[in-house]
Amino acid sequence: MIRSRTAALVLAAVVAACGDAAETEPPAAVGGGGAYAGPPIPWAYEPFPAPLEPADNPSTPEKIELGNLLFYDPVLSRDDATACATCHSEIWGMSDGLPVSVGVDGEGPTGPGRDGPNKTTRNAQTLWNVPFRTELFLDGRSPSLEHQALEPLLAERELALAPDAAAAKLATFPAYVTLFQQAFPGQAQPVTADNLARALSAFQRTLVSDRAPYDQYVAGDEGAMRPDWVKGMFLFAEGGCAGCHVPPLFEANRYVSRIGGADPGRAAVTSAPADQGAFRVPTLRNARDTEPYFHDGSVISLEEAVQVEAEISAARGEGRALTAEEVALVAKFINKGLTDRTRDPRRPKVVPSGLQVPVDGFRIPR
Ligand code: HEC
Ligand code: HEC
Repeated sequence: MIRSRTAALVLAAVVAACGDAAETEPPAAVGGGGAYAGPPIPWAYEPFPAPLEPADNPSTPEKIELGNLLFYDPVLSRDDATACATCHSEIWGMSDGLPVSVGVDGEGPTGPGRDGPNKTTRNAQTLWNVPFRTELFLDGRSPSLEHQALEPLLAERELALAPDAAAAKLATFPAYVTLFQQAFPGQAQPVTADNLARALSAFQRTLVSDRAPYDQYVAGDEGAMRPDWVKGMFLFAEGGCAGCHVPPLFEANRYVSRIGGADPGRAAVTSAPADQGAFRVPTLRNARDTEPYFHDGSVISLEEAVQVEAEISAARGEGRALTAEEVALVAKFINKGLTDRTRDPRRPKVVPSGLQVPVDGFRIPR
């Protein structure tokens, strides 16, 4: 496994270095001064962080291409019909449009209507901006993409194929053997479960969403955000949202119990009673496309999710109460201001296994 101490230490060093930089360069005050010269924003400006990349898995075009094919290839599943992309589709903001996901033996294209006997217990997370995450899954139980990548194979309700069996299966396709050789040059036997995890991770590190209208706006293009989206952004701050959905990623390594339910959430990792039902603060980037919302997919529309969040936030004293009109503006800011589809991954038409790439229809905005 790649769960090596060195990788963890390199990651820790990168994180620490970022922390130091932030301390020596205090962010500019609202409305200008210091380093920030863009139009008004309701919080101290922070640039996008550097993506994390473990020292033992530098990205290369060959590795990314292999990972892209593997991500869409149902060869990694027990039923030869399910892929990562079945539950993480670019059409659904790298999620799947379902309250909970349907794994192996499921029927129907990704999206509403897909059904089957193997359902996950949680809503599929977006993979946008996973390269910046140090605590993965809704309960934060995984520390890196490399660590996470084989979990869906091990999960009986997802791909249900042991990683070593998956590697052995891949080795029977000459096209994959060549692609692994190119991605991991100099290795005598490159088709391994660890390299599978590395390639999937390198591909997922391309899933960066940082060109939304909000990003263009803070870069100095005031016209990139319409006046009502800007209003919504200020209300987002007044409603206390930015305290948890922290810009520029609009997420945080913080676990909060918001809507209750039976899922133990973070408590399954920490055993702390305070973490019962608590989930990691998710990103709101590309949230326009990732309905339904929350860990259980209990809310369909973005506006309704914002309404729910505004009520909880006000009740918890995180920010002031928002009127229905203000909630609509906040939803508009998220919907329009934080959407960036410029780097959608490529969905291959053909994959080296020759199996059919999982089908996705198209998203009908709800
Ligand atoms: C059957 C549906 C399904 C399949 C197939 C699937 N996933 Fe997921 N994925 C999920 C769900 C559900 C979660 C949230 C699970 C949780 O928090 O416990 C998730 C979470 C993740 C996360 C964590 C994201 C974050 O922000 O913390 C990553 C990364 C990920 N999946 C990558 C993959 C990769 C790579 C594959 C293929 C090898 C894959 N998934 C296959 C449903 C799926
Ligand atoms: C105290 C921290 C906190 C505050 C304040 C907060 N949120 Fe959240 N938010 C969360 C957590 C945690 C979740 C995930 C809950 C879950 O999955 O059940 C979440 C989920 C969401 C979601 C659903 C995202 C998804 O992909 O499922 C939206 C939309 C959202 N919040 C918007 C807002 C808005 C708008 C505000 C301000 C009115 C706000 N939040 C305030 C912590 C917070």
